[in-house]
Amino acid sequence: ERIEWDLAAIERGGYDHFMLKEIFEQPTTVENTMRGRLILEDGTSKLGGLNMSHEQLMAIDNIVITACGTSWHSALIGEMMIEDLCRIPVEVEYASEFRYRNPIVTPTTLCIVISQSGETADTLAAMREAKRRGAHTLGLVNVVGSTIAREDDGGVYLHAGPEIGVASTKAFTSQVVALALFALKLARKRTLSVIRGREIAQAMHDLPAQIQKILDRAAEIEKIAEEYKDAHNFLYLGRGFNFPAALEGALKLKEISYIHAEGYPAAEMKHGPIALIDEKMPVVFIAPHDGVFDKIVSNIQEVKARGGKTIIITSRDEPALEGLVDHEFRIPETVDMLTPVLASVPLQLLAYYIAVKRGANVDQPRNLAKSVTVE
Ligand code: G6P
Repeated sequence: ERIEWDLAAIERGGYDHFMLKEIFEQPTTVENTMRGRLILEDGTSKLGGLNMSHEQLMAIDNIVITACGTSWHSALIGEMMIEDLCRIPVEVEYASEFRYRNPIVTPTTLCIVISQSGETADTLAAMREAKRRGAHTLGLVNVVGSTIAREDDGGVYLHAGPEIGVASTKAFTSQVVALALFALKLARKRTLSVIRGREIAQAMHDLPAQIQKILDRAAEIEKIAEEYKDAHNFLYLGRGFNFPAALEGALKLKEISYIHAEGYPAAEMKHGPIALIDEKMPVVFIAPHDGVFDKIVSNIQEVKARGGKTIIITSRDEPALEGLVDHEFRIPETVDMLTPVLASVPLQLLAYYIAVKRGANVDQPRNLAKSVTVE
């Protein structure tokens, strides 16, 4: 038994849990997703596994992204990136819903399938259905040689390394980065200028060091966790690229701490969740200084006016936030589309520390499986 325990501890690399190890690996895993793929001087990327000719890439006139769970959240970010940069309409579908609704898929549809494990039954079935309808399928998969990776028409491996913690962390940030690589490549073939392409490529290149800076301050998040570990509910609010980050933050907390949490687009709060806000309700705002910052400030005011507790992930010293902040955590600045990569790291840490302080089994939460191979 002693030996087994030692082995497990060695595998965790000195961390208390795999989840924490995987959160702390992200500077490296994000780097690995980009390795050999990012071309700074041309502001584009090279993706060897796409298996699509220039003509095929140019012919795509709509994109469907399908996935489950955390991978579905990265899909939502991918949708915004691709539409913004490439001007191609994108639909995101839950894999479990996709094939039961007669989806519009044609030979000029690109179907992107996102899966950490490459084995999720619904995602695999959705991919097969898209293929049957003639779409070109592209898998964004972490596990090499998995079923989705074997059956897709082309792929982008995440290269994030084995993810053991049931709650996905490093696979998520790598998925967002892989989607950014793809969007950059497609956009540069179409409408994106080299100047803007370079700006995004440089920002991607800077991500690993920026993630490291966040991790160096994990203790700040642990303090916030101490204060809210006994909460019964949490609300996560974000806008634009950080609306999916809010969904993902809430999912992480639910999965491992069993605290009920909801993610919402910040301005939608007034159509429902605002009724729940009182002094006992912590509200996490994902509010970096991006194109929608001014808009989210008024949502923060609405929460504060009702006595809610605000935990604000932002990126600057903002006079507009004065008097509205109960807790603040700063993330470095980047281009808008990459802010969710940085913002999700403190959210992962918050969920982790809260769960640990509640005595939950962080790596193997009740009722959840790492890979869901039933429909
Ligand atoms: C399960 C896991 C989640 C994961 C989801 C999709 O629910 O617990 O962490 O996001 O499956 O998994 P996939 O391997 O397809 O990304």
